[in-house]
Amino acid sequence: MTDRTRLPTLCVHAGQRKGPAENGLNTPIVTSTAYDYTGGEGVRYPRYLNTPNHQVVAAKIAALEGAEDALVSASGLGSISALLFGLLEPGDHVILLDGLYGGTSDLIDGLLVPWGLRHSTWDGDPGTLAGLIEPRTRLAWVESPTNPLLRVIDLAATAAILNERGVLAAIDNTFATPILQRPLALGFDLVMHSATKYFGGHSDLLCGALAGSAELIDRIRPAAIRLGSSLNGQDLALLERSMKTLALRVERQSASALELARSLAEHAAIAEVYYPGLPEDPGHAIARRQMDGFGGMLGFRLAGDRDPGRFLAALEFIAPAVSLAGVESTICQPSRTSHARVAAAVRERLGIDDRLMRLSVGIESLEDLVEDLGRALGQAG
Ligand SMILES: Cc1ncc(COP(=O)(O)O)c(C=O)c1O
Repeated sequence: MTDRTRLPTLCVHAGQRKGPAENGLNTPIVTSTAYDYTGGEGVRYPRYLNTPNHQVVAAKIAALEGAEDALVSASGLGSISALLFGLLEPGDHVILLDGLYGGTSDLIDGLLVPWGLRHSTWDGDPGTLAGLIEPRTRLAWVESPTNPLLRVIDLAATAAILNERGVLAAIDNTFATPILQRPLALGFDLVMHSATKYFGGHSDLLCGALAGSAELIDRIRPAAIRLGSSLNGQDLALLERSMKTLALRVERQSASALELARSLAEHAAIAEVYYPGLPEDPGHAIARRQMDGFGGMLGFRLAGDRDPGRFLAALEFIAPAVSLAGVESTICQPSRTSHARVAAAVRERLGIDDRLMRLSVGIESLEDLVEDLGRALGQAG
């Protein structure tokens, strides 16, 4: 199990290899796609996920999540695809948390359902979970906190129910990161990341990751290889470098998000704030138990008298942008971005309308963030 006080040290050093000849401190970037196979080290090839830079980043992610092994893919969706195709067979059944990231639902409905997967939707209450388990239920997939409404699921209770019944517990840990939440220690079997987000952290990398036991990662690896969603040496080296500042960035983003959530909750132009760090948030007590901070993402809904378009246009440096978790603050309407492909009726049920904003808090000065939001809210009326 990862000692959480050592997470910043692991961010910098875990997995790293020093330059063999030049005594440099950084891992060398190996750009080769062709490797000599006669030296007895087996066949190396980037798509086989066994190049030196892949191994370094995988070791860092495994160390942070307290996992035996990890796999890095060319996108978060690449990681989810590898996990689902690697562990499931046509006819199998999975349980999906209601309101998953739109791309995950789209992958399942667009590719896995036609392939033969069956699924049930879970409302997130541990009390209703056991009732959804069927003889061929192999896996349950959750997020916590969720995208975009920052709902918190009781991970230890969820894992206990699934473990007892032999159903794999898998979680998209993108929003929390291992700095704030380590699901394997709470009983989960597999953790997935859109490493495009906090791991990359600078809005310039597309990548994904899986972490879990060596046995599960070995079962998933052939699907990851077949799906061909692998990264080259340069991108892996960039990911390794970004991850060295993961703890610093996430701690700062999380602290600023808490302050912003508090100030937005008081603002007349805001109808609702969604942030598990607020004591009145329904997920607060569970989040306090299972997280070491509440994260850098928050949701809020504009009051009826504010115009979403005018609000976004009035922001000076908080950029209206898809994606999240960069060092720069960004904001988006999930109804038009991450959840645009989700059926309108489902969006309505989840409360994802044009007034709902998802703010990804960057590492800028808190004062500037408060000022930018306050000015734009004023001009949106
Ligand atoms: C929570 C979450 N999971 C998964 C993904 C998919 O990751 P990627 O875009 O890296 O494929 C995203 C992307 O926005 C996300 O926000």
